[in-house]
Amino acid sequence: MTGMFITFEGPEGAGKSTNLTIFAEALARAGCPALLTREPGGTPVAEQIRGVLLADHEEPVNPDAELLLVFAARAQHLHALIRPALEEGRVVISDRFTDATYAYQGGGRGIDPLRIAALEEWVQGSLRPDLVVVFDVPVEVGLERARARNALDRFEREPTAFFESVRGTYLSRAAADPTRYRVIDASGELPEVLERMQPIIDEVLERWRA
Ligand code: TMP
Repeated sequence: MTGMFITFEGPEGAGKSTNLTIFAEALARAGCPALLTREPGGTPVAEQIRGVLLADHEEPVNPDAELLLVFAARAQHLHALIRPALEEGRVVISDRFTDATYAYQGGGRGIDPLRIAALEEWVQGSLRPDLVVVFDVPVEVGLERARARNALDRFEREPTAFFESVRGTYLSRAAADPTRYRVIDASGELPEVLERMQPIIDEVLERWRA
């Protein structure tokens, strides 16, 4: 595969979606039009699975069922959108990917990461993001931003301890592989965060042109 696969990650309210749009606009201005997508979702079928994952249900959702739905959506997304785009040599930026599964289903729900790794291997083969940009904010700051923004979905209503685990998982995965991960302190105002993102934009353009 000749393209570049970049993922944006972070707990609720880290501002990753806004930053992703700005990041992609900067790449496009420099002549590098990226394909933007998101997880769960990215294709019509995967978006329907997203609906099931985020909605409230009368029965509790079993964590294994949740994990398998996440990977079902991902299999479709990879097959129909991500792999074909990478094969065409495109830059693909996804708002969340498998690091979110380690953070939410692993850290948050307590599923053994080895189970997640087995599904990752099955669904993705050797495909991993070339670059993972993690937007980090203290849990309370992120939750306050999320609460101010919209009605909370099924994940956003989890207790603070759940999000502490989510955040901790992201940070420990990033610390374990600094060549593929970049952590951005997203707690300040937007202009500061954008300034912190600039070296990553430069790095992607450099790799793209190489
Ligand atoms: P969003 O907040 O980026 O729109 O993502 C929707 C929710 O889906 C978010 O609360 C995190 C959750 N999620 C998982 O639990 N596991 C995953 O693998 C992914 C991609 C998202």
